[in-house]
Amino acid sequence: MIKNDLFLRALKGETVDRPPVWMMRQAGRYLPEFMEIKAKYDFFTRCQTPELASEITVQPIRRYGMDAAILFSDILVIPQAMNIEVEMKPGLGPWLPSPIRNPKDLDRVIVPDIQDTLGYVMDAIKMTKEKLNDEIPLIGFAGSPWTILCYCVQGQGSKNFDKAKEFCFTQPLAAHELLQKITDTTIAYLKEKVKAGVNAVQVFDSWGGMLSPTDYQEFSWKYIQQIIDALKNETEVIAFGKGCWFALDTMAKSGASALGVDWTCSARNARYLTGGNITLQGNFDPTRLFSPPKEIKKMVIQMINVFGKDKYIVNLGHGILPNIPIENAGAFIEAVKEYKAE
Ligand code: CP3
Repeated sequence: MIKNDLFLRALKGETVDRPPVWMMRQAGRYLPEFMEIKAKYDFFTRCQTPELASEITVQPIRRYGMDAAILFSDILVIPQAMNIEVEMKPGLGPWLPSPIRNPKDLDRVIVPDIQDTLGYVMDAIKMTKEKLNDEIPLIGFAGSPWTILCYCVQGQGSKNFDKAKEFCFTQPLAAHELLQKITDTTIAYLKEKVKAGVNAVQVFDSWGGMLSPTDYQEFSWKYIQQIIDALKNETEVIAFGKGCWFALDTMAKSGASALGVDWTCSARNARYLTGGNITLQGNFDPTRLFSPPKEIKKMVIQMINVFGKDKYIVNLGHGILPNIPIENAGAFIEAVKEYKAE
């Protein structure tokens, strides 16, 4: 069905001539064509207008020809749908004016009907699928329940998410109730995305690494596992935990098709911790894209040689930075597409 199915084959662990490549946050601010749309429409208008979201999704594909597209949207549309107000403030980022801090705040948090609240995402998926014309697969995504809780409680981005952690450690019952509501919403949301046409889903646990290994199991992993259990028979699931190398052994037994790795974990260690059998995705330091293109290409080839060309998806270890030169991002993609196994 899909003409370039390298990405799906790598997720299934099949042998390939070269690994597939895409970049986290590839639909974003390093692209001049994205900045043109950003100048005209505010953030949630871009997310909520299928014409805009689908156009932004295919922009990086047109420019570079990655092996997968990821739908332009945000993890914070989930709290919005759950009746928690979310704004995107220029210069500050996510801003939640009424954060969840106690059991009473929880009363207003709902598990919504997905079509009623997030139908626009499904429309954007359908429109994107038409534009992609079955050339490459489309990835859908959601934040992990823990990462969503971080924003719902902290109310904004943070260096340590101290208020979110304090909430979990002083009011664990309320924390687990919120995490379960987010999990139930996320499962229903991802199932709708699959019905609308995405070919794989990625769960972003961007702030999992803020937790100790023990707390990670209790407040984050338990809920990601529920999501994997609910989705694994319907689509390919990728679990990405930033700073979560300590949990890779558990993650490898989860039923996920692939695991994301950040750049603080070496390829060898990631293979060792996961038992060598599961597809891994990552882990180029996003800041390394400032190196000259020639050096980027060398490093990418080295990275592929250590991960191995099979059961591997080339990606960054986290999202691309807004100030990366477009030709450097191009060198990253090109190096993979030119890759020849030794
Ligand atoms: O990967 C892609 O190309 C798809 C688009 C995507 C966005 N957000 C668009 C976006 C994805 C996958 C996300 C996920 C997301 N959003 C995460 C998890 C992934 C990660 O990087 O850890 C998180 C933690 C968020 C929350 C969020 N949304 C933050 C921290 C910010 C940045 C705030 C800032 O100003 O730096 C956003 C806004 C956002 N989401 C932007 C984009 C392109 C930039 C702002 C804009 O376009 O106006």
